[in-house]
Amino acid sequence: MTEYDVVIIGSGPGGYVCAIRAAQLGMKTALIEKYNSLGGTCLNVGCIPSKALLDTSHHFHSATHEFADHGIDVGTPKADLKKMIERKRKVVSQTVDGIKYLMDKNKIDVYHGLGSFKDEHTVVIDGDKKETIKGKKIVIATGSKPASLPFIKLDKERVITSTEALELQEIPKHMIVIGGGVIGVELGSVYARLGAKVSVVEYLDRIIPSFDKDISKELTKSMKKIGVKFHLSTKVTSVERDGDNVVITAEDKKGNEVKLEGDICLVSIGRRAYTDGLNLEAAGLKSNDKGQVEVNDNLQTKVDHIYAIGDVVRGAMLAHKAEEEGVFVAEHMNGEHPHIDYNLVPNVVYTWPEVASVGKGEDQLKEEGREIKTGSFPMRALGRSRASGDTEGLIKIIADAKTDEILGAQMVGARTADLIAEMVVAMEFRASAEDIARMSHAHPTYAEGVKEAALAATDNRALHM
Ligand code: FAD
Ligand code: NAI
Repeated sequence: MTEYDVVIIGSGPGGYVCAIRAAQLGMKTALIEKYNSLGGTCLNVGCIPSKALLDTSHHFHSATHEFADHGIDVGTPKADLKKMIERKRKVVSQTVDGIKYLMDKNKIDVYHGLGSFKDEHTVVIDGDKKETIKGKKIVIATGSKPASLPFIKLDKERVITSTEALELQEIPKHMIVIGGGVIGVELGSVYARLGAKVSVVEYLDRIIPSFDKDISKELTKSMKKIGVKFHLSTKVTSVERDGDNVVITAEDKKGNEVKLEGDICLVSIGRRAYTDGLNLEAAGLKSNDKGQVEVNDNLQTKVDHIYAIGDVVRGAMLAHKAEEEGVFVAEHMNGEHPHIDYNLVPNVVYTWPEVASVGKGEDQLKEEGREIKTGSFPMRALGRSRASGDTEGLIKIIADAKTDEILGAQMVGARTADLIAEMVVAMEFRASAEDIARMSHAHPTYAEGVKEAALAATDNRALHM
């Protein structure tokens, strides 16, 4: 039986990054993945395919609605969804092949098959053949799966999750999205841009509720412009197939019944940690009521040499959070003292305009009773935005009222997914709003909005507003 320094179960961004770092540190490393392709949810049915379709549908939308403004006549563009999906598959397979290359390069042994604990050091791999390996240390990186509601039957044909939404072969006539979180607004945008009628039913009083209210309001405005309809403060009570249609019954906050009929219903109400088939009990472990594996601050389970990372543990379900944890665990196993500041893990929504945040929001800080000041700058006041025509949104910086230290940033606008990195760096170095306000930002760029928001937060000194 082969014995490894570390055995990692699950090849998503948590698992494969952990494997690379462990190998870099000289550990004999094995990675187990139950599917044939590596990369987990993120590369196969998450981040990468959704961004590929977001980019494709963005081009289509620009060609249909914006090119004419720039003096470009392309007639009436046609959307060929089959080709779009085909392109997306290629993007995924190239990315997945890249992971295979990295595993070979780092001399990591990859096993395909379901991994399950035999005891606290032994893992059985049930693949084409049955193999048993041992690990001095073991990392659980088994990720998450879409959550649903008890009364919803996911037939994966018309009542679907994000996985099937990335593989549709026809543009829906009417897509009903249950849940106005990240998946709902991203995949809702894809199909709205391609011409589908899209209705979002959200339980709370606003979409993307993890962002500040003003940010979610801005995105709502932008999404309404591409035709998305919102039913907020509305609770779904039943989802029924009726031939090729799906009928959704819900109740609004006044208790009125809302009935929606569409051909596709996307259920995107969150994801649940996944440990099915792992046989945690054989290692002396069990999952909690959220399905998660519980860990301490060092990401160790109650069995010291077994770690868990990524979506299967507490915290944000984000690829870059899983990656940081993968590196953390490899370094901790190597006797180092790594650190993750979870407050500085950015959050991005790839709609158009994009939405991004880091640190604490204005709403949360107010709730905590913290004395704060904010500076906001509208994207429409930027020369760069007018040049490109991307004038929607705003950038907001939140700072401590007395010390001026930046406590958070929230943005909605063109390329804010990339702009947020400046705020992560600023906060890592505990910059004040004035520090950012006094730094030169190239003109004309969207990044000038960051500087202007910092100026606004400093002394209400924005220059172009
Ligand atoms: P996963 O990526 O879920 O990987 C876990 C792996 O473990 C899977 O491959 C699974 O097959 C394998 N596995 C499970 N059990 C076993 C077992 N017993 N034996 C062997 N293998 C097993 N995050 C972002 O940061 N940015 C985005 O833009 C983004 N977009 C997303 C879009 C969609 C539609 C979805 C669904 C998610 C998106 N996410 C995004 C979230 C992101 O995909 C996850 O946070 C991330 O994949 C978590 O990584 P992980 O390594 O913890 O788990
Ligand atoms: P989510 O947690 O982002 O949003 C779920 C939404 O559904 C919330 O707004 C919630 O209020 C609503 N909801 C819950 N129960 C409901 C009900 N019964 N009826 C109506 N609405 C209900 O979850 P989502 O969108 O499924 O995504 C799962 C996770 O995947 C995200 O939290 C995120 O961690 C990750 N993800 C990240 C992306 C990114 O980083 N860009 C993109 C897509 C997913």
